[in-house]
Amino acid sequence: MLPDQPKSGTSPSTDSALYGMILENIDRAVVAFDEEGRISLFNPAAEALMDRSSRQTIGKHYQELFKDQDTLLYLVKVALEEGRSITDDEGLYLHRSNAAPLPVNAYAAPIYASKSNQDGVVMIIRDLSRIKELEGTLRRADRLSMLGTLAAGLAHEIKNPLGGIKGAAQLLAMELSDESSMLDYTQIMIKEVERINFIIEELMDLGNPRPPEIGEVELTRILDDIVLLQREAARGQNIKFLLELDPSIPPVQGDEGLLTRLFLNLIKNAREAIEHEGEVLIETRISSSYHLTSPGRRSSPMVDITISDTGCGINPEELDRIFTPYFTTKSKGSGLGLAISQKIIEDHYGLLKIESSPGEGTTMIVSLPLRR
Ligand SMILES: Nc1ncnc2c1ncn2[C@@H]1O[C@H](COP(=O)(O)OP(=O)(O)OP(=O)(O)O)[C@@H](O)[C@H]1O
Ligand SMILES: [Mg+2]
Repeated sequence: MLPDQPKSGTSPSTDSALYGMILENIDRAVVAFDEEGRISLFNPAAEALMDRSSRQTIGKHYQELFKDQDTLLYLVKVALEEGRSITDDEGLYLHRSNAAPLPVNAYAAPIYASKSNQDGVVMIIRDLSRIKELEGTLRRADRLSMLGTLAAGLAHEIKNPLGGIKGAAQLLAMELSDESSMLDYTQIMIKEVERINFIIEELMDLGNPRPPEIGEVELTRILDDIVLLQREAARGQNIKFLLELDPSIPPVQGDEGLLTRLFLNLIKNAREAIEHEGEVLIETRISSSYHLTSPGRRSSPMVDITISDTGCGINPEELDRIFTPYFTTKSKGSGLGLAISQKIIEDHYGLLKIESSPGEGTTMIVSLPLRR
């Protein structure tokens, strides 16, 4: 809390009331330190970002607030002792006691009470987690579109000779007598050619999929259907599928076939991550935080579809690679599931967020706009 802040709703009559209101409402953490380095101001965004109240914090020394966080300590020190402003936005993380480290950038500047007297330091910290998420989405999209161009050309070249091989194998089969043991070999040839063909078509799909056919999609119904099938597939294992679907969510505008494929991929991955026993939880809810705001469009409420499993989890080193086509850790996986899913989400102007801890499980959150 700030000293002398106006009650919300009252119009600010003085400059300081206006400043107070700005500090109360701004989405950057603003922390001020007095000339001895003790905290004199800790705005609500700082409380939220650092997960501590201003009451606990005001009066504490900056070395305590940023204990073991060398860069942040350095920034305050420079502004305090050398009286100059300083910024850091390279790979800086804010450590918090009860939550994961947060990617941030930070700026520290001296405060001058009069022309010659420094009165302390103000520090502004900005949460970059949302920007990092968007960057991740863009990087993945880039990789896909590059692959798409490459795949379309290559697939075309491969499909023609494949057609030739299949035709020749069929001719060969016709030449052989019904008892010939060679018939089995021609069948294998034909089947394997068809398998390559299928893989190539999926790859072409990835680069240049059909445009979504937009209709009204009842998420509850498609999720119910998918879970029914996955329960069947998990027979013999001890996997619990739990659904917590908000019945009040209106239909989303999207392509039913593509969205079914998307959630099938994700729920199948969740099932496959569990070796013997575990739980897959599927939840839907209207998201409180995300709105699609691309230029010229009306912003739309989003719906979050969360799929969490208690499976093997994903190593941090692998997290960035799981969207790469053909990356798989499974003996029978194609490694295309997530690459295709990512593409479907993009085509629906959605977002995907992943949280995973190895040995504990994975949570995938798909956010889709309700309106297009
Ligand atoms: N929920 C999850 N838990 C743990 N690992 C996962 C999860 N989802 C995906 N992965 C990892 O990401 C990799 C790529 O997933 P993706 O769905 O693209 O391919 P796949 O599942 O291996 O093959 P396919 O989807 O064709 O069956 C998986 O092999 C697995 O290592
Ligand atoms: Mg998969």
